[in-house]
Amino acid sequence: MILRYGPIVGLFLACAVHAQAPADVYSRGGADPAAVACATCHGAQGEGMEAGGFPRLAGLPADYIRKQLADFASGARANPLMQPIASALMREEIDALAAMLAAKAYPEVPPVGKAAEVQEPGETLALRGAWDRNIPECVACHAPGGRGVGNAFPPLAGQPAQYLAAQLTAWQQGTRKNDPNDLMGHIGRSLTADEIEAVSKYFAGLKK
Ligand code: HEC
Ligand code: HEC
Repeated sequence: MILRYGPIVGLFLACAVHAQAPADVYSRGGADPAAVACATCHGAQGEGMEAGGFPRLAGLPADYIRKQLADFASGARANPLMQPIASALMREEIDALAAMLAAKAYPEVPPVGKAAEVQEPGETLALRGAWDRNIPECVACHAPGGRGVGNAFPPLAGQPAQYLAAQLTAWQQGTRKNDPNDLMGHIGRSLTADEIEAVSKYFAGLKK
């Protein structure tokens, strides 16, 4: 009997012992040792880390966070650091982390939209697009000021420039292919390296 129920009892014990508060998972890691603490790279409060190019997580929509973790785990968004971590998180840990991070505020950004004047190339792309190549202005989906909208369109404002550029390059090279309608794939493949750098710097600099 013991042998037969052993695995089930073990499972219950594992859950009971490791049911941790989301803040603990964030700052100390999950039940599986491979789910290392998020704070090491994403900052004590989820504010991100500019020097390392680690994105801000605080204030991102919960569904967006859940989707990205699933995409890292499946490899649809290939990344050597996040893939093992996302694969090692338990479902309840993901739900708790996503809810905790989404409840934090995203910094206010000036709502610069299509009507604003444009001068340099990054700003032009962000606010006007390049319709001769079928590239819509970024603010059409990412909202004025790049502050994001709903669960599907993440904020860009204030994210490290290095991080934003890495994402556009990943779509260009096909290592990030997690966008259901390939909106970003098309955009990534259509931009030059100089444009990627310019538009990334533009959004990184949008903060109050
Ligand atoms: C060793 C450093 C490191 C640790 C620890 C880490 N991350 Fe990350 N995380 C990254 C990097 C690097 C990226 C950007 C990956 C890319 O370029 O696609 C990232 C990206 C993300 C993203 C995508 C954000 C976006 O805007 O699309 C989410 C969500 C995320 N991490 C959640 C977590 C969670 C939750 C934890 C803790 C369980 C964690 N990370 C721990 C390095 C780390
Ligand atoms: C037609 C809508 C649309 C337009 C226009 C658009 N995006 Fe996106 N973008 C998306 C969607 C949807 C995602 C999230 C994809 C996913 O689920 O991972 C995204 C994600 C991103 C990300 C990743 C953010 C993160 O936190 O990982 C970057 C960077 C980005 N877009 C930059 C741009 C730039 C720069 C432009 C303008 C040149 C632009 N986008 C225009 C729809 C759009």
